[in-house]
Amino acid sequence: MNSQVLPRLAILISGHGTNLQAFIDACARRELVAHIGIVISNNPKAVGLQRAHNAGLATHTIDHRDFATREEFDQALVNELHSASIDLVVLAGFMRILTPVLVQPFVGRLLNIHPSLLPKYPGMRTHQRALDSGDAEAGATVHFVTQELDGGPPILQGRLPTLPDDTAESLAARVSILEHAMYPLAVRWYLQGRLQLTDNGAVLDGKMIAATGVQYRADAR
Ligand code: GAR
Repeated sequence: MNSQVLPRLAILISGHGTNLQAFIDACARRELVAHIGIVISNNPKAVGLQRAHNAGLATHTIDHRDFATREEFDQALVNELHSASIDLVVLAGFMRILTPVLVQPFVGRLLNIHPSLLPKYPGMRTHQRALDSGDAEAGATVHFVTQELDGGPPILQGRLPTLPDDTAESLAARVSILEHAMYPLAVRWYLQGRLQLTDNGAVLDGKMIAATGVQYRADAR
């Protein structure tokens, strides 16, 4: 199919881009019928940019350090997203706090994945905090982005057990694998027109999603 007629994703990254790679692979396998129209990084050294180049994707670096305010940085992102005619913005390890300048034009079309069982542990060091609290489970949450940091309505939550000898690194590695499976599924729901953000929260197949999101299962479609 001509990539011009496919829904166009923007994937925003800051680092390794393993979630970006999961989207590249899901599109290549046609599990996601979409085109990654642009990969944007705020970090010129992000390893994920090389993944995008390897896949022949358009990339753009917008270095936040070149802007005096968060709002000016966000406006530069909005301009790039508009010129790339993006349908859905996918934050994949994009480590910037967003302002309304970016959130408002894309509300309902802006997704994030966060490495915790939200509402637990918004912010940073999620795996260490889960271990320090003695949590039996950890995981990741895909959610619509609103102005509240890591606080928009959850869509999909994947959980796994913590292990007695877990470190933040070992737990992060397992959660990362889970993320690569679950994030493309949430995007697929969106692209299929099954998932919407409403005033009351996230809706899937016409039903409100619970406050903790749909629980991810490997056989979910
Ligand atoms: C992922 O674990 C993602 O959940 C997290 O950054 C990692 C990026 O990995 N995002 C956040 O912490 C956002 N608050 P990746 O660059 O290899 O995809």
